[in-house]
Amino acid sequence: MTTTGRFITLEGVDGAGKSTHLGFVAEWLRQQGREVVVTREPGGTPLGETLRELLLHRDMDADTELLLMFAARQAHLAELILPALARGAWVVSDRFTDASYAYQCGGRGIEVERIAALESWVQHGFQPDLTLLFDVPPEVAETRRSAVRAADRFEREADSFFSRVRNAYLERARAEPDRIHVLDARHSIAELQGEIGQLLQALT
Ligand code: TYD
Repeated sequence: MTTTGRFITLEGVDGAGKSTHLGFVAEWLRQQGREVVVTREPGGTPLGETLRELLLHRDMDADTELLLMFAARQAHLAELILPALARGAWVVSDRFTDASYAYQCGGRGIEVERIAALESWVQHGFQPDLTLLFDVPPEVAETRRSAVRAADRFEREADSFFSRVRNAYLERARAEPDRIHVLDARHSIAELQGEIGQLLQALT
């Protein structure tokens, strides 16, 4: 057993199906005897969850959105993620900073340098140990999105927005292949769980 935990993040465009796999990742790790903390962004702390409500439902300009994402992330790291890792827990987060590169840079068009500056301010070089990127073609994600409950501010965006988000995610995966693993989310749940299990095994 390692003395410090690991940080695993799940990413993908809305409708890629990552939420289905979050429980599997947590359960797999618990079966190995790990303490597991499951969390999400934006959110994860009382303040972060309040910011999430605003981010998902209040109109705001793109820079305000970006700054609130990172304000929530700062609280999340300080209050939950870093203390959990320090005591040896494994932390599994539904989204993290790759989502800011994908949505605020790719989707909204904010300069990448601004996101990188906030990232280094808040993270000081800290990165996930493993990122699972659930990738699907835009039309599949669109069908899955329209099958879910009332859409939030992001889910109401046009298809072209999600194409840009997807491309930004894939570009990050190409730039950081050791950390970010692309999973074809059109595969069956059983196939994906097999792949995810192997990736987790390699980390333990
Ligand atoms: P999501 O994770 O899809 O939750 P749910 O499955 O409950 O809909 O919702 C979070 C939304 O926030 C998602 O549309 C992406 C967006 N987001 C950003 O735009 N930037 C970020 O940095 C993060 C963490 C999320």
